[in-house]
Amino acid sequence: MHTSVMLEESINYLNLNDKSTVIDCTLGYAGHSSAILKKIPHGFLYAFDQDNEAIKEAEKKLNKISNNYKIINKNFIHLKDEIKEEVDGIIFDLGVSSPQLDEDYRGFSYHKEAKLDMRMNQNQDLDAYKVVNEYPLEKLIHIFKEYGEEKYSTSIAQAIIKKRKEKPIETTTELAEIIKENVPEKYRRKSHPARKIFQAIRIEVNDELNVFSSALKDSLTMLKKGGRISVITFHSLEDKICKKIFNEVSNIPKELRGLPVIPDEYKPKYKVLANISPSKKEIENNPRSRSARLRVIEKL
Ligand SMILES: C[S@@+](CC[C@H](N)C(=O)[O-])C[C@H]1O[C@@H](n2cnc3c(N)ncnc32)[C@H](O)[C@@H]1O
Repeated sequence: MHTSVMLEESINYLNLNDKSTVIDCTLGYAGHSSAILKKIPHGFLYAFDQDNEAIKEAEKKLNKISNNYKIINKNFIHLKDEIKEEVDGIIFDLGVSSPQLDEDYRGFSYHKEAKLDMRMNQNQDLDAYKVVNEYPLEKLIHIFKEYGEEKYSTSIAQAIIKKRKEKPIETTTELAEIIKENVPEKYRRKSHPARKIFQAIRIEVNDELNVFSSALKDSLTMLKKGGRISVITFHSLEDKICKKIFNEVSNIPKELRGLPVIPDEYKPKYKVLANISPSKKEIENNPRSRSARLRVIEKL
């Protein structure tokens, strides 16, 4: 079961009417998409996901509501190629769904014994096994630092290289154990030491940050006037990208600030409407929402 995060806020901010056209970039188990479809009986919903299992379940749910939707079984980086019309609302609810985390065999979780996988798209070639067993030392250190913000990146990467010379590292729990053994005792007690490294490998396997950055920029160009984008992120790296892109398009360039008259071409074309965290109540009910942040922007 996947509990949708910031469901009400993210959809209310889209300000939909019954004829709105909407894109859900991260269909998942259709929590957001179901709520959207109910709001747009005379509109249309496009929904992306690259996870075949999520799509099967989502379809069953959406069919009970209406049939004015199209599921696109692709990475949302293809947004602009797939949809040629301007839309009223776009939503990104990033990361993985709870079933992806809970299914042992997907290899996303360090708690569960599984083959090293972590692919959201089960048809792609690069998986966590290849990252862990084939990447050179410098590249491992780089992704652990950049995507995991892990201070013991070097010692963990060195330990991985040493272990894999003896035999390939096959499973999530083997990897988690290597990580645990190579951080100081005190650090182990804070949170599971594998958390950040698993996040880093997942981001690398799915190229999550580049894909998101490119798709978010494209999505801004796909809005009608008054159209809005809601973005729910789950860690600071995604949120930083969203904040930077939204700031760039919603602010007057620094050099022109303070001028008595701003030329039309430099006036912002977008306005940031929200930058909020989940309520205390939501965090209590769904601890997974703890790290979430919702940012919303409108095309003027
Ligand atoms: C957090 S879940 C979405 C949950 C959904 N909003 C709900 O309420 O049920 C994220 C989903 O987006 C998908 N996803 C993540 N990145 C993607 C990408 N680049 N392209 C397509 N789907 C992606 C994942 O496969 C996952 O199913």
